[in-house]
Amino acid sequence: MANSIILIENLTKCFVTTDGRRHLAIDAVNVAVAEGEFVSILGPSGCGKSTLLYMVGGFVTPSSGQILVQGKLVTGPGPDRGPVFQEFALFPWKTVIENVMYGPVQQGMSRRDAREHAERLLDLVQLKKFADFYPKELSGGMRQRVAIARTLAYQPAILLMDEPFGALDAHTRTVLQNELLNIWERDRKTVLFVTHGVDEAVFLSDRVVVMTRAPGRVKAVIDIDLPRPRRRVDLLMNRQYQEYVIKLERLIEDVHLEETGP
Ligand SMILES: Nc1ncnc2c1ncn2[C@@H]1O[C@H](COP(=O)(O)OP(=O)(O)O)[C@@H](O)[C@H]1O
Ligand SMILES: [Mg+2]
Repeated sequence: MANSIILIENLTKCFVTTDGRRHLAIDAVNVAVAEGEFVSILGPSGCGKSTLLYMVGGFVTPSSGQILVQGKLVTGPGPDRGPVFQEFALFPWKTVIENVMYGPVQQGMSRRDAREHAERLLDLVQLKKFADFYPKELSGGMRQRVAIARTLAYQPAILLMDEPFGALDAHTRTVLQNELLNIWERDRKTVLFVTHGVDEAVFLSDRVVVMTRAPGRVKAVIDIDLPRPRRRVDLLMNRQYQEYVIKLERLIEDVHLEETGP
């Protein structure tokens, strides 16, 4: 794709474990993401999703192949991609607002501007009143919202999200998915979103990349042609939405069978 903001070409990652064994985590993966696109990476646990995201983030070096971001070869982390937080852990010794301010201050913003910026983001995730609380004083769902605000605070061109809603109860997950889409539909950043949830992938994405089990390869790429703005309750009865979910469930089922087959 000529106008790809992320171009993953023939990417392979082979880990050497401490006892000297080689483990092929990612094998010849090709993915192109257009600017402003919301792309999910869907696959079973251990298939290399986090590894793939860390390589795009520049935190893990590929064994072969390459990643281009805005036409430039990725050789390390950069402000255009923001950090990757699996499970979205917060700094427990910092208050909510300090957690959100952390990135911009690191990037050179004055504390005063960073505070204003963080306040706006906390407003967006409906946590303004909790700015001076510590993470341990919040519910799990509230902590996730702080984490989303913190990720957005970096103002990267590309958001890398690693199963951000994995550890939540179903209701909180739905609320946050809606909130993420609201924010995304407003400023249309490019998002690379890792998940193992089929319905989450369909609900959020423009495109879903389905991965095989280890070594992670691209099994299929499915365009999700559903109108936006999307709201979960509206989609549940939508025939097209259901068909996408079924199609992806079948693909994931195939992925599992392939591994256990002869
Ligand atoms: N630093 C590492 N050293 C060795 N093996 C690793 C390392 N990081 C990940 N792996 C292995 O790579 C595979 C893919 O891991 P991961 O990317 O975390 O999968 P996923 O996020 O899809 O669950 C796993 O088998 C994991 O054990
Ligand atoms: Mg992972």
